[in-house]
Amino acid sequence: MNADLVVVGSGFFGLTIAERAATELGLKVAVLDRRHHIGGNAYSENEAKTGIEVHRYGAHLFHTSNERVWEYVNRFTKFTNYQHKVYTSHKGEVYPMPINLGTINQFFRSAMSPTEAKALIAEQAGELAGTDPQNLNDKGIQLIGRPLYEAFIKHYTGKQWQTDPKDLPAEIISRLPVRYNYDNRYFNDTYEGLPVDGYTAWIERMADHPNIEVVLNTDFFDDGEFGRSSVLGQVPVIYTGPVDRYFDYAEGDLSWRTIDLEEEVLPIEDFQGCSVMNYPDADAAFTRIHEFRHFHPERDYTKDATVIMREFSRFAEKGDEPYYPVNTSEDRQKLLAYRDLAKGEKSVLFGGRLGTYKYLDMHMAIGSALSMYDNKIKPHFTGGAKLE
Ligand code: FDA
Repeated sequence: MNADLVVVGSGFFGLTIAERAATELGLKVAVLDRRHHIGGNAYSENEAKTGIEVHRYGAHLFHTSNERVWEYVNRFTKFTNYQHKVYTSHKGEVYPMPINLGTINQFFRSAMSPTEAKALIAEQAGELAGTDPQNLNDKGIQLIGRPLYEAFIKHYTGKQWQTDPKDLPAEIISRLPVRYNYDNRYFNDTYEGLPVDGYTAWIERMADHPNIEVVLNTDFFDDGEFGRSSVLGQVPVIYTGPVDRYFDYAEGDLSWRTIDLEEEVLPIEDFQGCSVMNYPDADAAFTRIHEFRHFHPERDYTKDATVIMREFSRFAEKGDEPYYPVNTSEDRQKLLAYRDLAKGEKSVLFGGRLGTYKYLDMHMAIGSALSMYDNKIKPHFTGGAKLE
């Protein structure tokens, strides 16, 4: 093996570490991935018939207020000025999301001012005032009142969790954002946009360094040149796969939600007029539909066809892609036990979404990889500091 550092997982976390170690420290880095492509869940490719860029593992919108991350990512790609906006289709009518004054006035067939709308929602939320909600349903009503909660949140959340919100813990939501103005930009970060020539081009530029060797279709737990048994103890390892898998599930399986994505190419120019439409009613089994052409209005896509993707949410079973941590109190106990085990692995650092059992947006994964590089990897290779 001709490497100074092995990175398991070629998502944004792993690639950020690899890029920094290769560029700044001149290390030889091997990046393994068990998939046939790099980029982890941010991977995208052009749909074969239409040429429309599709985000293979669900829609990915880049946004950040972190100056360092913004400066770093701009070394590898330029961004469009795309601003994400979401709509929701409830009982045959389309409303802007997140809930804002436009949504409220349309829903109540009114022309309320911000003050009047605030007073109305406070009155409706007052139904459960002074109580201590024990389930998500009551919490939702207490936060925004029954009418808006039941229209836009109740069934949507029920579909996401495949569970009646009355049977979900209240702690899943601490707040439900309501804007008392007409701003329906989804994110309020300083910087937002999509990579001009796509996620895969961005990701490939991060890995494009003579010292970086990308090894695809290779599982760290299989035998072979870069397998765990050959690598451990030889060179430091940055592991961004599932932490429970690393320890052979010794403390039990951590629970995840996954999504099923159903793609369809339609022989029309435009299906829904926007990139994401939520379906908050009980009668549609999916939670939302993405239409990918709308992520890049600046591109000269075909007018003869469009690509849509319906998203279905469910609990992950073994073999499914783990997407969102469920994070029950049992999961948190198991995670603590795994963290203790991880401390014993002296030449391995655990990072990223799967390695820390934490939902991380792309900018958070990149930011946390930059910190790990600064605080652990660079000191180890330049001053001999211990890795842990
Ligand atoms: P990531 O999961 O990307 O990469 C881990 C890699 O490790 C994978 O490629 C996997 O194959 C590999 N691996 C695991 N085990 C291995 C093994 N044993 N051997 C070899 N390889 C192994 N963020 C955002 O900013 N805006 C957004 O809109 C979205 N949208 C979004 C939608 C969905 C459905 C999900 C699940 C996630 C998002 N994200 C997002 C989050 C974004 O995908 C996230 O920040 C990155 O995936 C985090 O990068 P990581 O490198 O941590 O993990």
